[in-house]
Amino acid sequence: MKVPLLDLRAQYVAVGPAVEAAVKRVLESGHYILGEDVAAFEKELSAATGRPHAVAVSSGTDALLLALMALDLGPGDEVITTPLSFFATAGAVVRLGGTPVFADIERGSFNLDPAAAARRVTPKTRAILPVHLFGRPAELDGLRATGVPVIEDAAQAIGVPSLGQRTQCATLSFFPSKNLGAAGDAGAVVCEDAAFADRLRLMRAHGSRPKYVHHVVGGNFRIDTLQAAILRVKLPHLAAWNLARQHNAARYPALLAGTPLTLPEATAVHVWHHYVVRVPDGRRDALRKYLADHDVETEVYYPTPLHLQPCFANLGYHAGDLPESERACAEVLALPVHPNLSEDQQDYVGTTVRAFFAGG
Ligand SMILES: Cc1ncc(COP(=O)(O)O)c(C=O)c1O
Repeated sequence: MKVPLLDLRAQYVAVGPAVEAAVKRVLESGHYILGEDVAAFEKELSAATGRPHAVAVSSGTDALLLALMALDLGPGDEVITTPLSFFATAGAVVRLGGTPVFADIERGSFNLDPAAAARRVTPKTRAILPVHLFGRPAELDGLRATGVPVIEDAAQAIGVPSLGQRTQCATLSFFPSKNLGAAGDAGAVVCEDAAFADRLRLMRAHGSRPKYVHHVVGGNFRIDTLQAAILRVKLPHLAAWNLARQHNAARYPALLAGTPLTLPEATAVHVWHHYVVRVPDGRRDALRKYLADHDVETEVYYPTPLHLQPCFANLGYHAGDLPESERACAEVLALPVHPNLSEDQQDYVGTTVRAFFAGG
């Protein structure tokens, strides 16, 4: 049996005809930039997230970049963030001349440790950038209490009800593999503050209002109208897809019982972008190979913590500086949890993992 980590073709079977109709409608309209579909998608996303403002953009990376630009981040400014994330989280800070300041994660949640983050606040801190990693919301109260603007990297967490609540904003990614995925790159920023949303909207299209009058230097961070139209078709399915992920995640503890794996903690809110276990005793890569040899696809999110990435060597971090993040990078393994995973496939994942620990 083959068990993919993700099955976008299976998802397409469910939404294909409606997606094709939406694409045809946009192609026939002759309007390919912004317009009605983008405005309607923003309205629907605002309703789905519960935040009054949603600004759709070109990717999750650009959502981060735009949010930080809208905060006027520049050289000399520091942004406190987690070392356990996709590269874009810290990359966006450095692209604007800012300095990422890495604080360690909590062992249980894999998310930024709020106390460790608060300890790193200095007069230069311009923002704190937690990530809701794997779909589990990061603890934000301790971050809010610092008084520093909080930007939530919610690329992996759409469906968590509190995104962008009492923070500066939350950034989303609609990369195809995300819980809500476009047919290409897309993203969004959701927030509560009308003035901030207006600034995001202005900077999304070169700060121009009206056309050819530029108030600030922005960029081209527009979402494609085609992607917005496709996302409008998929958004109504998101709640059911997330429920299917939750159902699958809830089946794993029984399937993996008796193995030495550390399973994700049970939490009230989790949208299970990834189901990530810890493999002890340096056996992660051996288990991964065994599963691959038995046609079970897995992934390591992430093999290298951001503070030890070669491009950040100038920041002066060393191995051992952020031990929980480094330990996670050595132990984590993501097992299939996607909404189209069948019970048979998931049972097979369990059987194969147990066989590995029973000696193959
Ligand atoms: C945590 C996190 N931040 C940012 C991004 C960047 O999003 P995108 O790939 O849409 O640019 C991703 C996903 O790729 C992500 O997982």
